[in-house]
Amino acid sequence: MTGGASGIGRALAQGLAREGMRVVVSDLDEAGLAGTVQAIRAAGGEAQAIRTDVTQPGEVQSLAEQAVRAFRRVHVLCNNAGVALWGGLENATLRDWQWVLSVNLWGVIHGLQAFVPRMIAQHEGGHILNTASMAGLIASQGLGIYNTSKYAVVGLSETLAKDLRPYGIGVSVLCPMGVATQIRASERSRPSHLRNEAPSAAEPVELIGRTLPPETVAAMAIDAIRHNQLYVITHEEGLEPLRRRFQRLEQAILARKT
Ligand SMILES: NC(=O)c1ccc[n+]([C@@H]2O[C@H](COP(=O)([O-])OP(=O)(O)OC[C@H]3O[C@@H](n4cnc5c(N)ncnc54)[C@H](O)[C@@H]3O)[C@@H](O)[C@H]2O)c1
Repeated sequence: MTGGASGIGRALAQGLAREGMRVVVSDLDEAGLAGTVQAIRAAGGEAQAIRTDVTQPGEVQSLAEQAVRAFRRVHVLCNNAGVALWGGLENATLRDWQWVLSVNLWGVIHGLQAFVPRMIAQHEGGHILNTASMAGLIASQGLGIYNTSKYAVVGLSETLAKDLRPYGIGVSVLCPMGVATQIRASERSRPSHLRNEAPSAAEPVELIGRTLPPETVAAMAIDAIRHNQLYVITHEEGLEPLRRRFQRLEQAILARKT
């Protein structure tokens, strides 16, 4: 579990522990990690914290090694760590792009590179949950870098599901809209070398739809893992914008025919 110190990752770790899984929780935030592990142990579950920066491939490899050393095998991998950034693409800095893509996209890639070969070698199947977002299916003004990272995670997950099917490893991609977490305070984890000289004044984009508790979203994701469902669409409010997007795509094809 990456990004397990807060929000959706913490709720997922607690939910999986309640299902009887032994959980390795990783994050940049060590105090938050300790809180997650404490909550799991207090409820009778088993968990271990390993500080990991998902942007660093060596650290994610070490996470995989330590997870195997601690619990022998890995059956469920949750690539969940993520950050959000608001602001028009016309004002985006290279550092903005580098930061968000390094966590949201490269973090997932590093997780796969480190864990998939081990999961295949175990010959016991398993499941991978990648946290994307509804922003990986619908583009919103002011969310361009985040949209780019999350569309990539959706595409990657769709292909991964096909590639790993022969090994009995399922894939789910979690696509929530609003969830009550600390995502709006993502700047807290931006490394100093990727901070902008002049901080952006962009306000978070107002989301449509309900803001769900992370526990509700985690329960839906765990249900999808259990039933090997690819898409975890947590908010029915996403249906209309998704329909409009599909209709625009359909129109682009139909209009060409005439
Ligand atoms: N909250 C929402 O509304 C929402 C909606 C759609 C998708 N998501 C996605 O859910 C995932 C979890 O976010 P959340 O909403 O729980 O936010 P959150 O800020 O509460 O938790 C994100 C966690 O990721 C960790 N993190 C950030 N950079 C990291 C790095 N380099 N290495 C390791 N850990 C790092 C943070 O320390 C934090 O604990 C993210 O991928 C996010 O994009 C959130």
